[in-house]
Amino acid sequence: MAQTNRQIVLDHLPQGRLTPSTFRQTESAVPTPGEGDVLLRTLYVSLDAANRAWMQGATYRAALAAGDVMAGGALAEVVQSNSPDLAPGDRVFADTGWQDYAVLKAKHLHKLPALEPVTHLLSVYGVAGLTAYFGLLECGQPRAGETVVVSAAAGSVGSIVGQIAKIKGCRTVGIAGGAAKCDLLVRELGFDAAVDYKADGLRRALRGACPDGIDVYFDNVGGDVFEACLFNMKTHGRIACCGAVSQYDGDAPAHGPRGVPGLIVTKRLTLRGFIVSDFDAHRDAALAELKGWVESGQLKVREDVIAGLENLPAALIGLLAGENIGKRMVKVA
Ligand SMILES: NC(=O)c1ccc[n+]([C@@H]2O[C@H](COP(=O)([O-])OP(=O)(O)OC[C@H]3O[C@@H](n4cnc5c(N)ncnc54)[C@H](OP(=O)(O)O)[C@@H]3O)[C@@H](O)[C@H]2O)c1
Repeated sequence: MAQTNRQIVLDHLPQGRLTPSTFRQTESAVPTPGEGDVLLRTLYVSLDAANRAWMQGATYRAALAAGDVMAGGALAEVVQSNSPDLAPGDRVFADTGWQDYAVLKAKHLHKLPALEPVTHLLSVYGVAGLTAYFGLLECGQPRAGETVVVSAAAGSVGSIVGQIAKIKGCRTVGIAGGAAKCDLLVRELGFDAAVDYKADGLRRALRGACPDGIDVYFDNVGGDVFEACLFNMKTHGRIACCGAVSQYDGDAPAHGPRGVPGLIVTKRLTLRGFIVSDFDAHRDAALAELKGWVESGQLKVREDVIAGLENLPAALIGLLAGENIGKRMVKVA
């Protein structure tokens, strides 16, 4: 085992967009576990758009402060255990942060099943897959034949949302940045249509892709894209409010959505926000269904793996700029 613990620290709270200088790399001693603790070695760090939102203030977790080891969920391996619940070699999902080693209380952790490829534990069988599953099926309540639209559709959550909607017999439309991503959605992931939000005329393009209107909108981005979808919703449509990545990497939101109260009333829309952990009680059933779809080939899993702890800052900056297709993660060990 290494004697030092490489760490990436939040140097200062960013003003405006993240830059590499928002972070700095340091080293400390490998921490020692106390009673009931485990020492974890970070294997793969999950890159999540929400990592940036944690710098804006308290969310479903405490806000990050300057000098903190950058927070982040990871697939980690138990190296040393002072708890009967976990043994060396066990793998867990834990908020290790951006560092080689972390000490955490064993009672908050669960041993993950052994499966290959192990990266699926962070993508389709991790937060991304479960968020897509519960957000779409519980909050969106799609019915066969309906039109489902999802934004950030080539990202980790969005790419799974669109495919589940298709499995459920819906017409599926993805919104993504650029022609290459839109092409991939239709050709590789089976979406019926895709709309490039970076091109002019988003509202018109959406109307073309959804001539009968949108029954379910799965919102990953907020802002202007949310607004464009709102204008194209059908009466009694449902919006699953999953996240607002367009609002994370900067200061106060600069844009829309306009027309929110009026349109919600006249179209009798239902908007439901959720956090994936709201559905923990149904997790095992969801994982079993996701596994069935992956094994039958109905659900394709896209992953974007970058090597090296030192590349974490660039990986997050790139995620927010739309570099990734599918689930982005960084292999640390
Ligand atoms: N509610 C929950 O429990 C929960 C759990 C997990 C994630 N989430 C949310 O799910 C969403 C997706 O997160 P993720 O971590 O899976 O990331 P991701 O979708 O894999 O990557 C983020 C994507 O957002 C797109 N994007 C960036 N800026 C944008 C903008 N201004 N307008 C439109 N699209 C933009 C980029 O794709 P383009 O190239 O298409 O721009 C980028 O690839 C986030 O809103 C996140 O907060 C919610």
